[in-house]
Amino acid sequence: MPATVVVGAQWGDEGKGKIVDYCAQNAEVIVRFNGGSNAGHTVLVGEELFRFHLIPSGTIRREVLNIVGNGVVVDPSVLLEEIEELKGRGYPVDNLKISERAHMVMPYHRILDGLEEGLKGSLKAGTTMRGIGPCYEDKAARIGLRMGDLTDEGVLRERLDHLVPLKQRLIEAYGGNEVLSEESLLDQCLEYSRQFSAYITDTSLLLHQSLEDGKRVLFEGAQGTHLDIDHGIYPFGTSSNCVTGAAAVGSGVGIRHMEEVIGVVKAFTSRVGTGPFPAELSGSHASYLRDKSLGEYGTTTGRPRRVGWLDLVMLRYSARVNSLDYLAVTKLDVLAGLDPVKVCVEYEFDGQILRHFPANMNVFARCTPVFEELNGWKDISEDTWKEAVKAGYEEFPGEMREYLDFLAKESGVPVGIASVGPGREATMDMRS
Ligand code: GDP
Ligand code: IMO
Ligand code: MG
Repeated sequence: MPATVVVGAQWGDEGKGKIVDYCAQNAEVIVRFNGGSNAGHTVLVGEELFRFHLIPSGTIRREVLNIVGNGVVVDPSVLLEEIEELKGRGYPVDNLKISERAHMVMPYHRILDGLEEGLKGSLKAGTTMRGIGPCYEDKAARIGLRMGDLTDEGVLRERLDHLVPLKQRLIEAYGGNEVLSEESLLDQCLEYSRQFSAYITDTSLLLHQSLEDGKRVLFEGAQGTHLDIDHGIYPFGTSSNCVTGAAAVGSGVGIRHMEEVIGVVKAFTSRVGTGPFPAELSGSHASYLRDKSLGEYGTTTGRPRRVGWLDLVMLRYSARVNSLDYLAVTKLDVLAGLDPVKVCVEYEFDGQILRHFPANMNVFARCTPVFEELNGWKDISEDTWKEAVKAGYEEFPGEMREYLDFLAKESGVPVGIASVGPGREATMDMRS
């Protein structure tokens, strides 16, 4: 099995970090292929909690090579903080490589992210303010700076000569009062060059060599299918592609190597940021789900996540656009205790039933959910869940297994992993 891709099947925060960390036990190389420090991937190992924004979630496994691929937009200041924090915790981070083609998030991208959001009115996506959109804008406009540029002072100076006045004019036009200094940006870049030169390389080549040597590669997606710039709910998503296809584009590896695609899906739905959410819950059910799992607060922003019932229209769509081979269903322990459990199976729109996800945001905004009720399962203690994992799938509550069967039947994708807690030992692997 040369390569496995892990993608989010919903609106992000499905538990990709946990699943990547789990799958990393069988991988020799991990590559992040999209997004930037808008991502927050949480990994719990024993009592130790890690939150990754840019560094792949396998960095704590010392024997694994971790790659930040060309599709990632790298904020060097965040990367440096992450590296320093890991080093401070006893992880040397000597197993990291960064693509020379990855674009850099510059301080002016963050400034513009804030200013643009303030002016967008109802088009505001509620971004993470990490400069992600403006950085991908520059990439598409071919005026970005890439990590590889850090190693060439002449190139940096020439680009900044043009970019600084251009960005300054934009900031002023948007009503901002920040003043950019070319010299201090250049100094910062040269400092980053010193810090990162050992990490920056042709990671596509490295990945090809690894695959040729028969090494197992794991592709770590950020965000989720419904945040994807093309396939998500435009304009309320992010600025990168988050689907399986992006694993190839964002790493420089051809698609034929990708033999297993795992779609991570929460047993319910959550969303940070604005935009329509048909199966959204409010009141006591919402606070039950949010408060029971401390994780329902944005890993990157700390904002409370909006929560709702599982949406199968969204999941069927994710199965299609990602070629999912398996579902990894997380937070089954959190949904426990609610009875009955509802699942959105279709939408109703202007008296019509929709089973397939609409492309038009205005249609989506007017869809109402059609629910099917299933039996809930009892809430049990963390230790009891772990014992059930050890004892085997049949020891999981019958109603929960019925829920998983229902998901598999309705999405057309078998459940490969069932997760009943944030830790490694709360993971049931049913993949063949
Ligand atoms: P990601 O962005 O997809 O990696 O997800 P986040 O890390 O942002 O959010 C997922 C949260 O759920 C984290 O706090 C995880 O530790 C936690 N988590 C993952 N799987 C499970 C699970 O099965 N049960 C519980 N209770 N928590 C989980
Ligand atoms: P992980 O990888 C959840 C959302 C933001 C906002 C929209 C655009 O942890 O699953 P951006 O800063 O990207 O321009 O914001 O996308 N968003 C996420 N939501 N999880 C994420 O990443 C997200 N990354 C971006 O909340 O609605
Ligand atoms: Mg997250």
